[in-house]
Amino acid sequence: MVQNKETERFKTLETPFYYYDMELLRETLKRYTDELKKYNYHAHYALKANANVRVLSLIKDFGLGADCVSGNEVSLALKTGFSPDKVVYAGVGKSDKEIKTALEGGIFCFNCESVPEIEVINSIAESMGKKVGIALRINPDIDAHTHKYISTGRSQDKFGISPWMFDEVLATIKKSSNINLIGLHFHVGSQITDLNVFSMLCKRVNELQKWFIERGIFIENINLGGGLGIDYVNPDENPISDFKNYFSIINSNLIVYPGQKIHFEPGRTIVAQCGSLISRVLYVKMGKGKKFAILDAGMNDLIRPALYQASHRIDNLTSKGRIMRYDVVGPICESSDRFGKNLLLPQTKRGDLVAIRSAGAYGQVMAMRYNQKDIAPEYFSENI
Ligand code: LLP
Repeated sequence: MVQNKETERFKTLETPFYYYDMELLRETLKRYTDELKKYNYHAHYALKANANVRVLSLIKDFGLGADCVSGNEVSLALKTGFSPDKVVYAGVGKSDKEIKTALEGGIFCFNCESVPEIEVINSIAESMGKKVGIALRINPDIDAHTHKYISTGRSQDKFGISPWMFDEVLATIKKSSNINLIGLHFHVGSQITDLNVFSMLCKRVNELQKWFIERGIFIENINLGGGLGIDYVNPDENPISDFKNYFSIINSNLIVYPGQKIHFEPGRTIVAQCGSLISRVLYVKMGKGKKFAILDAGMNDLIRPALYQASHRIDNLTSKGRIMRYDVVGPICESSDRFGKNLLLPQTKRGDLVAIRSAGAYGQVMAMRYNQKDIAPEYFSENI
């Protein structure tokens, strides 16, 4: 949330920039870990959502591990101080160099997405004289009812290993002496607001686990991934997702065998609401039957609207004028560089400051230099 005193400080700063409300992040982490502890669950924060070092440090201080999807994310997690035995590494295309980085770092587990990947990890581990834990990322063929670009658990998606391949996977694991099967991993999508998806996932996990149990294989770790959605429409009314309900749904639907540990990989739900992209209005211009508010922030700073048709709430921080409709757009030479159509905003003029809300997840990390724009800096509530 952006307070009035912060708006006064924002006026002195060059825009655009990302602003993180660290108190909200702390409160979110507190609520998340309180619920997690109730069930003795484990969490690995998905670095891909926001890899700012101060953000990461705070998350680490709350005892979370790290969920990484590249060698550089593994290195960053370790450099930030995440304990290697809490680092997991997923991704369909891990390069040899990245696998080596993770092996050197002594991470807890590779979440493996294919048979050839398991073979490569085993052979690199062997050449380094190491033994490592792997979890099988399984494609459970579940529709997460979210945007198609962020659905990952349907059979047509590139992620995970399909159950019909289990025999081949087990045969590969059997002949690989430098890996241990320690878990099953699932992640069916992101920004999931239909909580039935998670109960369906648990039921599917229960079925799939049986296959292993019937073959005398005890799976020590079950990792259910991330995906819990946030409220992009009313971030002030719902700044923190309903973790209580989420974990209680998991707890009542998932069969947990004695000695098993249950893991999660939250990303968005931890960091989205604490971040805003702060921008200045450059121009207001008339279009055919509409007004455009042209910002100095664009799709280069926050690509979610252009890529996923996502809408982020926009607040004009400096106007109390009468409410009017605007198409809010950025400066980039692409028609998809638009934050919203027909948005209701108080009368907006050149120089006004706006906050594009809920931008703490998949915001700055996805920024790019298209049109040779600068990467927006990041500021924090504690020291701004
Ligand atoms: N675990 C795995 C294996 C993942 O692939 C992801 C996200 C997560 C955990 C964290 O999911 P979360 O809790 O944040 O939903 N750029 C897109 C989102 C891509 C998500 C990719 N995977 C967006 O801006 O909506």
